[in-house]
Amino acid sequence: MAKIGPSLMCADMGNLEDAVKRLDQAGVDFFHFDIMDGSFVPNFTMGPDMVKALRPHTNKVFDVHLMVKEPERYIDLFVDAGADMISVHAEATTHLQRTLQTIRARGIKAGVALNPATPLSYLDYVWDVVDYVVLMTVNPGFAGQKFIPLTYNKIAELHRIIREKQLNIEIQVDGNISYETIPNVLEKGAEMLVCGTSSLFKKDRSLEQAMEELHAFLEALPSSRLVEAGDTK
Ligand code: DX5
Ligand code: ZN
Repeated sequence: MAKIGPSLMCADMGNLEDAVKRLDQAGVDFFHFDIMDGSFVPNFTMGPDMVKALRPHTNKVFDVHLMVKEPERYIDLFVDAGADMISVHAEATTHLQRTLQTIRARGIKAGVALNPATPLSYLDYVWDVVDYVVLMTVNPGFAGQKFIPLTYNKIAELHRIIREKQLNIEIQVDGNISYETIPNVLEKGAEMLVCGTSSLFKKDRSLEQAMEELHAFLEALPSSRLVEAGDTK
């Protein structure tokens, strides 16, 4: 079943503790922290102190998405701040295999994030040190962008490979995950939905209302549109 992960860069930065508590209560599955360095992506968001400050307010999984150059330099910082999962961009680290091993050595889940243009072949020699793959469905850096349609093919292809190789790897999608794109990304094999302004943080909805609607929407999807374990799609 799909997992909902609020993208906290889209929350009210002045009331993050409140947002985390309310979203936890509303039944989110994990919290997604987009970390940006102004260099790998042309934007800044939050740092390890923000993760640390929010850690005591929920037991839900903290998923840290490092959109930074040389992410290997920051693994300990974010693990010590309370991260349960860390994804690094394959395009941002020279030694991807070692970086993933470093994350796993800290006892947390290791993820690889791929920009829309980056082929799945980057994963060919790291399947055994990956727990999840973040497929960027927009160009990273900003909320409110349009879904890149060709990434649907990438989700389906990754799902096919995971099934064929019988890997225990989850597919996370990040970027314009909306009521329009959710049915399609689920059908292609995505499991972890990073929910930002497109589906959760809306000006005319409370967080509780938005979560209620999102849950109802997911429940109402015909199971045929949801990829079940063992599906060969
Ligand atoms: C892109 C960001 C966005 C954000 C989600 O770097 O990661 O994907 O979290 O926000 P929306 O739903 O506005 O794309
Ligand atoms: Zn992200």
